[in-house]
Amino acid sequence: MHDFQYKQGTFHCGEVPLEEIAKEVGTPFYCYSLPTLERHIRAFEDPLQDVDHQTCFAMKANSCLAILNTMARQGLGADVVSGGELYRALHAGIPAHKIVYSGVGKTTDEIDRAIRAGIMMFNIESEQELEVINARAGQLGKKAPISIRVNPDVDPHTHPYISTGMRDNKFGIDIEGSMAQYVKAREMENIEIVGIDCHIGSQLTDVTPFIDAVERLKVLIANLGKLGIEFRYLDLGGGLGITYSNEEPPNPKDYCTAILEAVGPLGLKLIFEPGRVIVGNAGILVTRVLYRKETKTKTFIIVDAGMNDLIRPALYGAYHEITPVEEHNGGTEKADVVGPICESSDFLAKERDLPRFVRGDLIAVMSAGAYGHTMASNYNSRPKPPEVLVDRTRFYVVSKRQSYEDLMSGEIVPDTIR
Ligand code: LLP
Repeated sequence: MHDFQYKQGTFHCGEVPLEEIAKEVGTPFYCYSLPTLERHIRAFEDPLQDVDHQTCFAMKANSCLAILNTMARQGLGADVVSGGELYRALHAGIPAHKIVYSGVGKTTDEIDRAIRAGIMMFNIESEQELEVINARAGQLGKKAPISIRVNPDVDPHTHPYISTGMRDNKFGIDIEGSMAQYVKAREMENIEIVGIDCHIGSQLTDVTPFIDAVERLKVLIANLGKLGIEFRYLDLGGGLGITYSNEEPPNPKDYCTAILEAVGPLGLKLIFEPGRVIVGNAGILVTRVLYRKETKTKTFIIVDAGMNDLIRPALYGAYHEITPVEEHNGGTEKADVVGPICESSDFLAKERDLPRFVRGDLIAVMSAGAYGHTMASNYNSRPKPPEVLVDRTRFYVVSKRQSYEDLMSGEIVPDTIR
């Protein structure tokens, strides 16, 4: 049972009515439940209790400092993919030795910062990146800890935009080629081989692709062992899916049990990089109905949140459940829920059976805790919405709504142009 519930006909997060938060911060806003977040962390960590492991939260899913700080307090590390994420993670109190750095396009400045900070490891995604990291570490008089992100060529059966472990993806080094890269890395003066890594995709609803990837990696690990190449960490990435509508992904316990069984007695410390499964269903987006618009063929519910606030429906055709904040007893109608942005892809729901919403109604867009606020933009010069964290009876504004001044910060009009 999650923390978002109707009480006396009105939708609450914990003990706090969403209407009350809306009055205080305006709409739209993101709302996260702290108890749900903590429960999701425990659900992932409990099955791993007796296993040598480190969970590194994939902060691209949600990089709000208050959320990251919760991760830090629960002992989690972070999977970062940019200098900005590294900066945030450290600022939120996540120790550098619990940080892994993934991503195909690390810049030299980002590499230097990560080496200086003393991160757990770089997940290497190309031969050239390996060479650059070796050179930068040499410049800084340090050894850079690395693992190679192996692309195991398994089909994760998810949306093509979030599938990352197939031959044609830009991610990782193919399984055949990674052997040669490890051999090369071993000869590099400023590189320390510490791990092996893979991440095959996101929103996976079946364990089979994860298990296939583990099996392929085990063959590679054995072959590397024959060459005397050994390491401490096996990083299995993230990707476990959640229920948005009627998906039935394995729960974290089943996922962990299946993985542990497949890995067997390798003697390596396991690294996990979950994102969505921890935060996705711990957050919602709350928006207010601005207008109803009925055309000859359709009914549009125009709300004050747009694709700049939550881009998943526009980008992936993603489904997010729409829930009225005040329980409706009347009938339903088929409608599209759309935002104010000047694009036809600016929708939150299409052809849905919904209560008959009217101007002023509040709507909760469910399962928006992952890849919601982190993917928000200022398109159409719209300020990013605030984030609110609810802890049972209390709520905290953990990031403010941007102001119009914020939108122009750093901009300069040269006084010599006319
Ligand atoms: N590790 C790496 C290297 C990743 O690239 C990702 C996600 C994760 C971990 C975390 O995956 P998760 O556990 O959250 O599935 N914006 C898309 C999702 C993109 C995922 C990118 N990589 C969406 O809104 O569905």
